[in-house]
Amino acid sequence: MTGAALARSQLPLPLVRRGKVREVYAVGDDQLLLVASDRISAFDVVMREPIPYKGAVLTQMSAYWFDLLKDISSSHFVTCDVTEIINRIPDLESYDSTLEGRSTLVTRTDPVPFECVVRGYLSGSAWAEYAEEGTLAGERLEPGMVESQQLDPPLFSPASKAYEGHDENITFGVMRDALEGDLAERLRRMSLELYAEGCRIAAERGIIIADTKFEFGIAPGGQVMLIDELLTPDSSRFWPADRYEPGRGQPSFDKQPLRDYLAESKSDGSWDGAAPPPTLSAEIVAQTSARYLDAHRRITGSELPIV
Ligand SMILES: Nc1ncnc2c1ncn2[C@@H]1O[C@H](COP(=O)(O)OP(=O)(O)OP(=O)(O)O)[C@@H](O)[C@H]1O
Ligand SMILES: [Mg+2]
Repeated sequence: MTGAALARSQLPLPLVRRGKVREVYAVGDDQLLLVASDRISAFDVVMREPIPYKGAVLTQMSAYWFDLLKDISSSHFVTCDVTEIINRIPDLESYDSTLEGRSTLVTRTDPVPFECVVRGYLSGSAWAEYAEEGTLAGERLEPGMVESQQLDPPLFSPASKAYEGHDENITFGVMRDALEGDLAERLRRMSLELYAEGCRIAAERGIIIADTKFEFGIAPGGQVMLIDELLTPDSSRFWPADRYEPGRGQPSFDKQPLRDYLAESKSDGSWDGAAPPPTLSAEIVAQTSARYLDAHRRITGSELPIV
């Protein structure tokens, strides 16, 4: 039973990267340990208060999808079983409560420097581009579409991966020119297949995956594999299907209470929209945590193993 929320891990392993959400540690030369903290970001600002169970939700949901979708793409996933991780890395024995539920041992890859975004609905930056230019990823869409309208078929709209700061939407042509051989086409095809199968499964559970982002890496042997996280609320827009209504923005499954609170703080002038963020009340934190747990329950059909 792990109750305490974790804002940041500090393990006795070489730290490769501290992202907005994860710490990435090296395990020997060919593996990484990804530790998903309970940090949450919204409007590109990381909040001070961690959200209990969020890191475990992201970790367990990714593990669930990596297994379910392994026939479409192999992945970096090795194990997220804390006992197995500690058996392999005995130095971490006393850190087991920090690691439980939120850590994944993975194959270290050379990440492809593009985010493979698939969109099945017109939302977020895609809606902004369409509303302004009539295009998506530089390609013209039919006129007269409304916000949150379904895109049929779904569209591949890659972004270049910025190490710091904002990722930038690009055209498929830019991605194709930058990658060797037919890698861009392969990634596009795999992304569309992963998205289609993910949507089919989520729909049975009352969730629309409006869009999502896949990341791929090249393993030392040259194998292309899915890396990072997979079809989680942080890498995707999940919408409750029973409340879907085109022509407006949709409520977000997970971050809506937080987004509403931040939007209110901006409009009443108590927050300027940049770091540092406003303090989150215990109620907002609890509501957000409950939303993440609910997303996990709805998608996987089971409770988080550590709750
Ligand atoms: N198997 C892997 N091999 C190599 N790198 C990986 C692998 N899996 C994940 N990564 C990298 O680890 C990082 C995960 O950290 P995190 O998600 O917190 O950061 P981020 O998304 O890059 O940045 P931020 O969240 O700060 O915008 C990502 O940069 C991701 O590309
Ligand atoms: Mg990330």
